[in-house]
Amino acid sequence: MTAHQLRSRNWFGRTDLDGFVHRSWLKTEGFSDLVFDGRPVIGIANSWSELTNCNAHLRQVADAVKRGVWSAGGFPLEFPTISLGEVLMKPTTMLFRNLMAMDVEECVRAYPLDAVVLLSGCDKTTPAMLMGAASADIPAIMVTGGPMLRGKWRTEELGSGTDAWRLWAERRAGRLSDEELCEAESCMSRSSGHCMVMGTASTMASMAEALGMTLPGNAAIPAPDSRRLAQAELAGRRAVEMALAGGPKPSEILTAQALDNAIRADMAIGGSTNAIIHLVAIAGRVGVPLPLSRFDELSRTTPFLVNLRPSGKYLMEDFFYAGGLPAVMKELLPLLHGDALTVNGRTMAQNVRDARCDNEDVIRPLGLPLAPEGGTVILSGNLCPDGAVLKQSAASPHLLVHRGRAVVFEDHADLHRRIDDPSLAIDETAILVLKHVGPKGAPGMPEWGAAPIPARLLKQGVKDMVRISDARMSGTSYGTVVLHVAPESAIGGPLALVRDGDEIELDVPRRSLTLRVADEELARRRAAWRPRPPHFTRGYGRLFLDHVLQANEGCDFDYLRGRTPVRAEDTAGPSHT
Ligand code: FES
Repeated sequence: MTAHQLRSRNWFGRTDLDGFVHRSWLKTEGFSDLVFDGRPVIGIANSWSELTNCNAHLRQVADAVKRGVWSAGGFPLEFPTISLGEVLMKPTTMLFRNLMAMDVEECVRAYPLDAVVLLSGCDKTTPAMLMGAASADIPAIMVTGGPMLRGKWRTEELGSGTDAWRLWAERRAGRLSDEELCEAESCMSRSSGHCMVMGTASTMASMAEALGMTLPGNAAIPAPDSRRLAQAELAGRRAVEMALAGGPKPSEILTAQALDNAIRADMAIGGSTNAIIHLVAIAGRVGVPLPLSRFDELSRTTPFLVNLRPSGKYLMEDFFYAGGLPAVMKELLPLLHGDALTVNGRTMAQNVRDARCDNEDVIRPLGLPLAPEGGTVILSGNLCPDGAVLKQSAASPHLLVHRGRAVVFEDHADLHRRIDDPSLAIDETAILVLKHVGPKGAPGMPEWGAAPIPARLLKQGVKDMVRISDARMSGTSYGTVVLHVAPESAIGGPLALVRDGDEIELDVPRRSLTLRVADEELARRRAAWRPRPPHFTRGYGRLFLDHVLQANEGCDFDYLRGRTPVRAEDTAGPSHT
């Protein structure tokens, strides 16, 4: 039963020349008249790409979605979006997240779609699709590609990213041979899917589920597990129901309550610091104010429950077997807005009421957490007037309160030129400061924040140091790393003024980051400071530099915040000559 006029009827239900053209041209694909009988058209936005290894299996997932759409009486049409492959795309996928969000939004708006299924996987593809769908605001449901199976090397289980960084540090310290490293390389990625630690992809899949934009249980099902395809089929069926009912739309799901639920989930799972930027950007699309202070408020009152790398011990496959995100949400229910609506038309509380935890070492009960507070904290102080982020669950406890002298690197190239220079005056008490790696500085705010420890110190057994930058960090990384310093150094934020030897104080319990330099001296340095020339003067890069917001505002483009909901009347009028 259709509760409203389907938007696609403006294309296919017409008796004029436009209707003739729309139907006739699509028949080149071999469709019969049957598909134009008034059934809803379901777009399948697919970020499949062989350049995005994490999403390379999404054609198969799309086939399962189509199966569901056909079986529920819909008409599926798959279309490609640009894809953002975290490891191959340079300088960083974050430079292109907003471009992908625009791609999704405008395709959804321009084509005859009544609902859309969003297929994502690798880090930025999930938030980009959620942002685009939120702005277009037609019924949308997400299916993520799922994590890889556990890596396995000899007797060791390997987590993507996290163990790559660890093994590389071992190699630099001379404790691992080239042959061993090469062997481990093949053992780490043994199936389709995205990184299988609680990195950014796993975190954002969990955020999509916690926001209510996926069916329950979506985030943790391993990519090669047949249950992921079954879930995709169900999502296709559900998209048809949503199209017929005209909702729920993203604006009904992505509410302040849903965002609170997602933040609590992020804190409980020890999620990637990147989630903070993406959730702020998503909130901006639906007009929900989300200052960084909200993350810290919820972090202080949300226990850390999920024992996954890089903060803990296990991998996503273990998380799935333990009960996945529904088991976490059930534990968190006393802290959640249980009545938040989700894409299946039920509330979060209804969805997770019967969830079960099958391994309490992987998912701890609320009363027996791994830590009393959430994984991520927000810092403030004169070095970061608009905030900074630190993942305390992946940091070294002995460095959470630390005073040290700055060793400053002006940019990424400077860091790599000098970090292993034997003459570099540095010991484990120093604080590494890296500039010009923020949204405009690098540009695109690459994941360069977990700067390498000097090899000389690694060989002495030093495993962690305080590092501060305006960059992001891979969700798979670990260490006492202060990130997202805002405003960034490239636009003259206080980070730009730090010099070698300055004293910096980090106090995580007090949430403070302080540059111990007199105000008069900082004023002198500021007067002498000059910005660098822009990285781009044309093309998309120019657009990015002109419009990107700072990290505390989600790094969206200023003019993309908010929604322009798709309306039926937008589609009227001939598109041919
Ligand atoms: Fe795609 Fe890690 S590289 S999720």
